[in-house]
Amino acid sequence: MQEKRRDRLVSAPRTYSRIQLMRYFLRNPREFGLMVGITTNFLRKRGILFRSRREKVGPQSQSLFWQDYPTVPLQEWLKNFDHGCNKSSLAMPNFDIYKAENQKRLDILSYQMGGAGSMELLYTLCINQRVRTVAESGVAAGWSSLAILMALEELGRGTLWSNDRPYIGLGSRRDIGLVVPPELKKNWKLMIGSDHRNLKRMLRRASPIDLFHYDSDKSYEGRTWAYPLIWESLKQGGWLISDDVQDNSAFLDYFVDKLGLEPTVIDFENKKIGVVQKN
Ligand SMILES: C[S@@+](CC[C@H](N)C(=O)[O-])C[C@H]1O[C@@H](n2cnc3c(N)ncnc32)[C@H](O)[C@@H]1O
Repeated sequence: MQEKRRDRLVSAPRTYSRIQLMRYFLRNPREFGLMVGITTNFLRKRGILFRSRREKVGPQSQSLFWQDYPTVPLQEWLKNFDHGCNKSSLAMPNFDIYKAENQKRLDILSYQMGGAGSMELLYTLCINQRVRTVAESGVAAGWSSLAILMALEELGRGTLWSNDRPYIGLGSRRDIGLVVPPELKKNWKLMIGSDHRNLKRMLRRASPIDLFHYDSDKSYEGRTWAYPLIWESLKQGGWLISDDVQDNSAFLDYFVDKLGLEPTVIDFENKKIGVVQKN
């Protein structure tokens, strides 16, 4: 019985039953905006609502709007990334060892948390750019937070602002940032709640920001709502890293079509990470 329940939860990190969702929204009426987003997505996927030119989900449409955009493998980009940094002074931690050690803590959870962002990319950028203020949306187990906090520790200063809400109907706030050790938490300001509730407040408090890691609401609506706010809060020369941009066309629509920029898109573990610098 116990095993059955675990299987069901493990296989459903992102798909919630309608009852779980209804219960969540009844308890959190302030998250009305998120409910509208989820409902709109649901109706669009079933063709009940029309879709915008590029806003489509599914592998076929993904490849359509990403096929012409050049990408670079992570290791190649890291090798060529310099920006005035003396690489010999950069001792890159072995993140695989951290992952293996922390996996034990995650194994006791009855559900699976969202996958890690690229720790190497975040760590390297934070060190190279000698960041002071970093912010992120989407913490889950806390791999990206761990990489950023390790970089701040190495730099001997700086603050990481993070916002996350537990997986709806599955997680608890105690699980958020599970892999971050207590000694690294001194430079961490963690807010709990949906992006719609907390993002603007977090950006107001943290800005101007050197680097923002976006890894929370990956829907088209979520991204098109958040990107302009984040962009506005970045310092001149600051960076936005956005995970899983291949999910839909929001990243291209905003940064390429609307702002006329040429972001770098990195291939990493079968997904794409968008990287843009504000110049
Ligand atoms: C992929 S995980 C983050 C992984 C994390 N960056 C890491 O490297 O370990 C996505 C997280 O974003 C949260 N999330 C999704 N939509 C959200 C929203 N609208 N507001 C706040 N958090 C959200 C999920 O609950 C989950 O904790």
